[in-house]
Amino acid sequence: MLVSAKEMLNKARDGKYAVGQFNINNLEWTKAVLLTAQENNSPVILGVSEGAGKYMGGYHAIVGMVNGLLEDLKITVPVALHLDHGSYEGAFKTIEAGFSSVMFDGSHYPIAENIEKTKELVKLAAEKGISLEAEVGSIGGEEDGVVGAGEIADPNECKSIADLGVTMLAAGIGNIHGKYPANWKGLDFKALAAIKELTGDMPLVLHGGTGIPAEMIKEAISLGVAKINVNTECQLSFAEATRKYIEAGKDLEGKGFDPRKLLAPGFEAIKATVKEKMDLFGSVNKA
Ligand code: G3H
Ligand code: ZN
Repeated sequence: MLVSAKEMLNKARDGKYAVGQFNINNLEWTKAVLLTAQENNSPVILGVSEGAGKYMGGYHAIVGMVNGLLEDLKITVPVALHLDHGSYEGAFKTIEAGFSSVMFDGSHYPIAENIEKTKELVKLAAEKGISLEAEVGSIGGEEDGVVGAGEIADPNECKSIADLGVTMLAAGIGNIHGKYPANWKGLDFKALAAIKELTGDMPLVLHGGTGIPAEMIKEAISLGVAKINVNTECQLSFAEATRKYIEAGKDLEGKGFDPRKLLAPGFEAIKATVKEKMDLFGSVNKA
C-alpha cells in the first residue's frame, strides 16, 4: 500500500539520513526502483513529473501500475508516490487519482501567492492524509519543462511556508537540475544553515541530486536535508547501458531485439544507480 512520505521523512531527519526520490518514466523504471528499495530494505519515493505523467498515459494509469507492482512484487518497504514540481491544478488531479504525496511548486509565483495556494493544498493534503512538499527560491536548470533561475531561497520566506504545515520544504540553495556545469560554485551551506535555523524540524528537500559530490550530500543531510531527488542520473545510466548493448550489435544477435532483452541492461543500470544513491544517502536498512 502506498504511504504518505511524512513518517519516512521525519524518521530520516531524526536518524540523519535521507530518503531518495527517484523519478519514474515507465514500467521498467518503476520496477527497477521498487525492487532495489526492497532488496536494500530502504524506504523510497517514486517521483512523477507532469511530463512523465502524460507520457505514461495519465495519473490513474500510474497509480494502477504502481499499486499492481507493490502487490505482485511483494514490496513491503514504505513507498510514496509523489507528484514532482506539480502545478496547482496538477496537485488536485494527482490527489484525486490516488497519489500519496504531492509537490506544489509555487516558486515562480510572488511569495504571497505561493503562500496562498500552498495553504489551500495543506488543508486538502491533511484531509486526504497525504504529504505535501512546497518550494521556495528556485532550482537552476530545466527539468521536464520546469525552468528555474537558481535563486537562493530567502530563509524568512521558507519559514512562512514551513509554518503553514507542509510536510517538507524544497529550498533553492544553488542546486541545479540536470548535469552540473564545470564552473558550478557548489551548494550554499550558509543559506541552508539559515533556513534550517528558521524552519526548525521541517524535513528539507534537496533537488538536483544528480552529480552532487558525496561530501556535499553528507553536509546537506547534517543540516536537515531528509529527501534527495534524483532523476537525470538514472536516465544517463539507462542510456549508457542501452547504447552499449546496441553498439555491441547485441540487438542483432539471437533474439536480442526482444524488448525484454533490449531493455534489460538499462534496467540493471538503473538498479545499480539507485543502490549507489541509497548507500550514499544512508537509507539502506531503514525501512
Ligand atoms: O525533481 C527532481 C530532481 O530535482 C532531480 O534532479 O535530474 O538533477 O537529478 P536531477
Ligand atoms: Zn526538482
